[in-house]
Amino acid sequence: MQSDILIIGAGVAGLYTALKLAPRPVTVVTARPLGKGGATPWAQGGLAAAVGPDDTPNLHFADTMQAGAGLVDPEAAHILATGGPAAVEDLIRIGVRFDTDENGNLKLGREAAHCRDRIVHATGDQAGAAIMEALIDAARRAGHITILERIVVEDLLLDDNGVVGGALIYDPEAGEREAFDYGETVLATGGLGGLYAVTTNPTPAQGHGLAFAARAGAVIRDPEFVQFHPTALDIGLDPAPLATEALRGDGARLVNKDGAPFMERYHTGADLAPRDIVARAVEAEIKAGRGAFLDAREAIGAKFPDTFPTVFASCQAADIDPRTDLMPVAPAAHYHMGGVYTDLDGKTSVDGLWAVGEVASSGVHGANRLASNSLLEAIVFGGRIADQLRDAEIDSAEGAGAPGDRMELASKPAPAKEMAKLRTAMSDHAALIRNGEGLADLLEFIHEMQESPDMTSGLKSALVTAELIAQGALAREESRGGHFRSDYPEADGEPYHTEIAATLLYDDE
Ligand code: SIN
Repeated sequence: MQSDILIIGAGVAGLYTALKLAPRPVTVVTARPLGKGGATPWAQGGLAAAVGPDDTPNLHFADTMQAGAGLVDPEAAHILATGGPAAVEDLIRIGVRFDTDENGNLKLGREAAHCRDRIVHATGDQAGAAIMEALIDAARRAGHITILERIVVEDLLLDDNGVVGGALIYDPEAGEREAFDYGETVLATGGLGGLYAVTTNPTPAQGHGLAFAARAGAVIRDPEFVQFHPTALDIGLDPAPLATEALRGDGARLVNKDGAPFMERYHTGADLAPRDIVARAVEAEIKAGRGAFLDAREAIGAKFPDTFPTVFASCQAADIDPRTDLMPVAPAAHYHMGGVYTDLDGKTSVDGLWAVGEVASSGVHGANRLASNSLLEAIVFGGRIADQLRDAEIDSAEGAGAPGDRMELASKPAPAKEMAKLRTAMSDHAALIRNGEGLADLLEFIHEMQESPDMTSGLKSALVTAELIAQGALAREESRGGHFRSDYPEADGEPYHTEIAATLLYDDE
């Protein structure tokens, strides 16, 4: 079916936007088979929404504002919080089976920095997988959606006026590159945890979408804000399996190797303090040689396998029984708060280009995302993009082409050896605790890598995104939310955004 809208990415953001565009034809392109390889199915905690009897969207709004450390856009947060209950309802209508109690009411969990129990979940810790399953099923049945799997997007196409007109793609099976001309393009490419040596994300999550947008001239906002999850299981796996915050919501404690709880020493919110604070506390305990562990023995105990089947399986693979053993944990790159700037309808600063989900900076996360707001953001803002495009008159893209150097690069992911070097450098200098000297070294390293004889299309994009993070982190001479500078440990008085335009990065092209 002929469509004039292209969605790049088939996680919750891409598929939900596609579904809501009905009846308008839309094409969704994804590098892997549907449901494989993206981060959505790995989401454990669930989706935050003010659906409890003691909760209101205003309370959810206030928690979102508070967590974001001065940089949340109030209008965006209001849209997010008020959209929560309808988002849950719509997902149930699409077929998601959230966990309910014996009376059929949604079971609600608590996570850090939420003042109410408001996390809807599915099969304990498998909310992401349940949502993906329902969306995939609905998308496969939807007559208006064409899904192209195993097609790699290498860049966006731009016309002479700087308008995005689709994407340059590579079909590995056919071994061919092709220009996909589309009038409107929606980026739903997810995050970038795979740029770090320790991450909870699938390792191919290397921020390629952000790089495409930057190269197309889109404004990138606050790229320095990367969220580290405090409790990835430290069991020598890459990616590091997540031990969901819902464990602490259910009473699990963070303890050191002597079994002593330590979070009270860092924050009055203790184990449910904001995520950035817990992550830095865990890092500090590990660096001090005391170690960091989750203790769920008393609070969860025998209920563990049924309540947290995913975490239980990860523990079992490492011969840990969380009913009787402590779980070793460490912080891991988890979520990108910054991204491609969008307005409240998901439109970027470049005509023809929209962004939704983790790749976007819609304004709802500020400097520190409130737990379980990300799936909600994808749903609420995906719906808003669909509302804009469903009946829009769309000009056909003509004369759009790929940036020159793309055609000369090998159509391949980043070589493993180069990627390992980059991930180590990012973890050394642009992770939880940064400083000016380290960031300057990192930028130099990235610039050297940009000359690599082993350059591929994948490495090129990964380097662009790494550079954006490093530039943003170097420019922000303060500490705020997920960004902590040991040489500027305090927040500046007035919160401000970092905005980086690609022209600053690519004056040689
Ligand atoms: C978690 O389950 O702890 C992660 C939830 C989130 O990142 O929103």
